[in-house]
Amino acid sequence: MRKLLLSLAVFGVSLLSYAQTRQLDIDLKKAGAPIQNTMYGIFFEDINYAADGGLYAELVKNRSFEFPDDALQGWKAFGKVEVLSGGPFERNPHYVRLSDPGHPHKWTGLDNEGFFGIGVKKGQAYRFSVWARVPDGGSSSLRIELVNTASMGENHFLCQEELVASGKEWKKYRVELTPDATLDKAVLRIFLTGDRRTIDLEHVSLFPADTWMGHENGLRKDLAQALADLHPGIFRFPGGCIVEGTDLATRYNWKNSVGPVENRPLNENRWEYTFPHRFYPDYYQSYGLGFFEFFQLSEEIGSEPLPILSCGLACQFQNENVEAHVHLDELQPYIQDALDLIEFANGPVTSTWGAVRAEMGHPEPFNLKFIGIGNEQWDSLYPEHLEPFVKAIRAAYPEIKIVGSSGPDSEGKQFDYLWPEMKRLGADLVDEHFYRPESWFLSQGARYDNYDRKGPKVFAGEYACHGAGKKWNHFHASLLEAAFMTGIERNADVVHMATYAPLFAHVEGWQWRPDLIWYDNLRSFRTASWHVQELYGRFRGTHTLSVKMDGANVTGAEGQDGLFASAVQDGSRVYVKVVNTTGEARNLAFNFTGLKKKALVKAAGGVRLSASASELDLENDLDHPDRIHPETFTLSGEGKTLEAQVPAWSFSVFVFER
Ligand code: AHR
Repeated sequence: MRKLLLSLAVFGVSLLSYAQTRQLDIDLKKAGAPIQNTMYGIFFEDINYAADGGLYAELVKNRSFEFPDDALQGWKAFGKVEVLSGGPFERNPHYVRLSDPGHPHKWTGLDNEGFFGIGVKKGQAYRFSVWARVPDGGSSSLRIELVNTASMGENHFLCQEELVASGKEWKKYRVELTPDATLDKAVLRIFLTGDRRTIDLEHVSLFPADTWMGHENGLRKDLAQALADLHPGIFRFPGGCIVEGTDLATRYNWKNSVGPVENRPLNENRWEYTFPHRFYPDYYQSYGLGFFEFFQLSEEIGSEPLPILSCGLACQFQNENVEAHVHLDELQPYIQDALDLIEFANGPVTSTWGAVRAEMGHPEPFNLKFIGIGNEQWDSLYPEHLEPFVKAIRAAYPEIKIVGSSGPDSEGKQFDYLWPEMKRLGADLVDEHFYRPESWFLSQGARYDNYDRKGPKVFAGEYACHGAGKKWNHFHASLLEAAFMTGIERNADVVHMATYAPLFAHVEGWQWRPDLIWYDNLRSFRTASWHVQELYGRFRGTHTLSVKMDGANVTGAEGQDGLFASAVQDGSRVYVKVVNTTGEARNLAFNFTGLKKKALVKAAGGVRLSASASELDLENDLDHPDRIHPETFTLSGEGKTLEAQVPAWSFSVFVFER
């Protein structure tokens, strides 16, 4: 039925002829503000198992035996296994020793449970690697298996390989495993075989061979592809509250996230315990997906990287005592961290941090242009801490644009205090956050219409429509995000960046929803909100165009029939985005002004996301990844005024050729 309605809704066919036709006046005479390449982007934070257990393709949990409560957390040991200290990697000192269990019919070894199991695919190659030594010299044999412990078959293993290590020196060994079945919850099993000579093991790792771009320390391909397909202009990393830390000792420390993965120290993940009603005692940050991988991925997907660093304030939600934060006279190491990060990204290979980047395989600079200092900070503490950063960065790197924060709220006391402070300090952009209900999104179509044109630019750095009582990725929430985004687009002279948040969530490990992309160990799906982001990115255009209804911006205001609209041009193409937030179809007349006398505009198709009233609460899921997806519609007609209809509950991108 929907298809029939859609096909009848092409130009000139008016199904609901009794409804009033609303005219949208689109001025083609003069292009408006340029739309920044950075406009639509992505926000990455290691929440919901977004890094370890998500985008980072490592399949072994606690690979370095460093989890602080239990060095063998995630592992099941059998036979004679000891955890020892003083291994080959200074910042991850633990390793395990496997010894003869003392009887030829007994076994020594370890099982790793992975992240909610280990997902493997039949016939695909997996790279197992381990650092090993034989303390007494000689050689020692291991059997490496991927196991289905629930199998009713004769064999539990999906594949097995032998690995022989020799010598007293630590060396890296590799074997490739190719399972003969697909399983989402396999177990990695390692056990001592042969003459069972004592062996020491460290940094036990398993990656699919087929990672994004084939990198060895790689990313999960389907998830990285879901980012690339958004063509994000800006890529914010690593958060989010994770930047700040529950205490300063556990803030995200970028310097620990670069260099050889084996020596990147483990960090706590605040999302382990922030919500006790969704507690994950095994959630840590291996930093395997660190700042090098972030810059590299940014480059590969064509995004400008936007690192956010600690300003020396621990999470203010979790710390009311000012003593939790760095005193101003002790802030220098934090400022130096920011300066060093810029050097890591852009410095010559002869510089200290440029050399680290080169050593990691990227001698060319990453061409970093932006840096954010502080996440959701507030009170006078924040400007006081930010100011010395601004001075130091301006002095050393005047070309770098600095992003400040307006706090955790979309309006209110802190917001009203911080915006002028950001102006005073000369921040280039101000980060705004809004996780808000439907009513808020419906009321914010004109949010940026009256912003100060001379002040810092806006970075809508974290936002999502959180349905009142409906915190999931249902269609209606995404529709209201689309409506709100017309206001972002219309105000492209003020808003330079916008990133939905959070980005990723494992279906078995989430702490926060809604999120843009969901997955289990083998599958993933893109939400309705992802499709909204994709459509805005795909039809970004180069400059805004004015679109008015009765002389006013189309912001869902009273008397505008629940319609929101914006328009952009891209060469000879004009994209008009129209969101109908009501349950009634609307008849529209696109009236193009500013054309030369004989010039006409031609309809050239369009794309639409829509749902019926009964589908508003539906979402995509692992079994129905495409339940909600955009559909193209054909348009025909030529003229200065063209008529069309938008269905109830719909987000349409109309394409015209001028
Ligand atoms: O996106 C989840 C969290 O929401 C971020 O960490 C924080 O900045 C915000 O409060």
